[in-house]
Parts: sequence; C-alpha cells; structure tokens
Amino acid sequence: MVVAVDDAPDPTGLYRIRDGAYAADLLITAVSEFDLFTWLAEHGPTTVSAACAALGLAPRPADVLFTLCAAHGLIERDVQNGDVIEVTELGRAHLVAGSPLDLRPYYGSLSERPAALELAHVLRTDEQAAWASAKPATAAGDWSGRLGDVAFAGRITAAMDARGAFLAPRLAAAVSDIPMDRILDVGGSSGIYASALLDAHPEARGTVFERSPVDVAARTLIEDRGYTGRLGVVTGDMFTDALPGDHDVHLFSQVLHDWDKARVEHLLRASFDALRPGGWLLEHDTHIARDKRGPLPVAEYSVLLMHSTPGKCWSVGELSDMAELIGFVDVEHRSTIADRGVLLARKPF
Ligand SMILES: C[S@@+](CC[C@H](N)C(=O)[O-])C[C@H]1O[C@@H](n2cnc3c(N)ncnc32)[C@H](O)[C@@H]1O
Repeated sequence: MVVAVDDAPDPTGLYRIRDGAYAADLLITAVSEFDLFTWLAEHGPTTVSAACAALGLAPRPADVLFTLCAAHGLIERDVQNGDVIEVTELGRAHLVAGSPLDLRPYYGSLSERPAALELAHVLRTDEQAAWASAKPATAAGDWSGRLGDVAFAGRITAAMDARGAFLAPRLAAAVSDIPMDRILDVGGSSGIYASALLDAHPEARGTVFERSPVDVAARTLIEDRGYTGRLGVVTGDMFTDALPGDHDVHLFSQVLHDWDKARVEHLLRASFDALRPGGWLLEHDTHIARDKRGPLPVAEYSVLLMHSTPGKCWSVGELSDMAELIGFVDVEHRSTIADRGVLLARKPF
C-alpha cells in the first residue's frame, strides 16, 4: 500500500519553497537585464510577441515570464484577445524608471546571482541551463542527458518517489470514478502514482514505461513497496518506441512539463494511438490557468522547468486544445492537492 496521507499535516508550503526556487531570479533578471517594466510603460498596451521582438526574448521563456509577472500583479495579461500585456499601477510605481519609488536599483543589486544570469541566457536563447545550475561536464549534462547516468537517475527517481508519496493518493481519489483495468504509467519513475491507482482498483494491473537506467531503480522501488506481479516495468523510449498497447488508462504524471510543444503533441498522439477505444488519458501536473495569470505557485514552478528543461507548466487551455485536436473528447480538469491537478481526456469508441 502507498502510505495513507489523510491525517498528515499539509506540506503544500514545502512543495512551494522547492518548486519556486528560481522565481525570484527571473524577476531580478527581468528588471536588471531587460528593464522590462520601463519598456512596458513606454510601449503599453502591447502584445507578448511585440515585447519578445523588441527585447530579444524567446517565446517559451517569455510566456513563463509574463505569467509570473501577471501572477504577481505587475502586468495585466489578456490571452483571449491577442495576448495583450500592460504594466499595472504596482509595476509602474515601483519598477519603472523615473518613479520616485523606483525599486530597480534594489533588484539590480542581486543581478550577478548565477541563476539570474542563467535565466537571462535562457530568455534570450531558449537553451536550457544545467539541472540545479550544476556545471554540465559534457554535452549530455542537461537534465535529460544526465538521466543516462546511473547515480543521477537513482537520485532523481528517489526524488520523484518522495514527492509522490503525498500526491499519489490524492490523484487516485480525484479520479476514483474512472474505470481502470490496465494502467500504463508513462515516464512513471518509481511507479508511485500507478501504485496508488492500483490500491483504489484491486482488480487492475499496471505497467510503468521508463527509459534505462531509471527502469532499474523503478523495479527496485516497486518490489520494495510490494507491487511486483501487479505492476510491471517495460523499458523503452517514449519518443522513439511505440507505447505498450492494450491499456485502458494512460497516466502522464509531471512528464509533459519537461518538454516543448512538439514533443508534448508527440506524446499525446502516441497515447491516443495506443489507448484502448474508450480509454482515458490522465495528465497529472501543475497547470497554469486558462488565462495565464497564475496561480502564483504554479507560475513560480514554471520558472524552474523553463530554466532546466525544454518545458514549462502548460496551461489547462493549451493542453485541452492539443488533446482535442488529436481527437480526445470529454476533456476536463480537476484539482488535487499541493497546486497539482489532473486533466482527463477520453479516446472515443
Ligand atoms: C519529472 S519525472 C516524472 C516522474 C513521475 N511520473 C512523477 O510524476 O513523479 C519524468 C520521468 O520521465 C522519464 N523519461 C524521460 N525521458 C523519457 C523517455 N524518453 N522515455 C521514457 N521515459 C522518459 C524520466 O526517466 C522520469 O522518470
């Protein structure tokens, strides 16, 4: 059994501290490297694409930046009408040149922080920085490349397992009405989320689909937890291998936030192709709201992902649109716990 969490103190604040580790540095960079709010005050209202062109910002990190600014109440953002942005009174009073209450020098005093400099580079180039700001020793030094290292893969798998102990039972509770027979946990790491779903569906069986060498760590943790026989591990690459067939539930937990739009679409399409007709896609993650103005803790986590991976926290609108274009129906978002949620989508019969 996955640990029962109902009586545990709520660790949401602890998730937020860890996940928001890079958010302050992005604001420091926006102010000190780009003088963003002065430019916005001189050119607003404007569009995100115009701001990107004028300030030399790449679209993915800029999207993360403007969501963070909106979540802090520093800009207004209207994604429904051309993604128009405009500096608010708060931003104008404290982060724009010429204001008597200008805090830019205060932020600028931290502009040499290594993470702030890395984020400036990501904003300009869209190239991911090294995981946890560690110096990459080789070309395979980014997050995904380092997963090929057995020791790193073991540490990351332990980290994902620790994060999941509290989250997994809440995910299972949020989708308790979904019928489940064979569950495929894509990029499932230790299988903690699949294990929690199996606890709620005693007749079901599951498969964790993982790359090597994470598959080895996954087998050990699944055995330690007592799920051998009910939860298997298939080794493969989700981008180059077909997903295992004959499953009626596909779980992607905190996987899509590591990848760019082309690869997210690839994974959603691969899921659609492999799912049994009538089966469900469950996409468990931290989701930005449709209006891309928050929630603040998710906007902050998106900065960490933007820094260290080719991904970001996707919005409910972005994911729903991609899923529906591929052919999924009954797309619905449900909140779980600790700023997480699950997007459900069904493959038609
Ligand atoms: C951020 S972790 C999420 C793990 C787990 N699902 C969770 O919610 O904690 C992403 C997972 O995707 C796996 N992964 C990355 N690239 C992969 C690939 N090409 N094929 C299969 N799995 C991959 C990683 O090994 C890792 O376990």
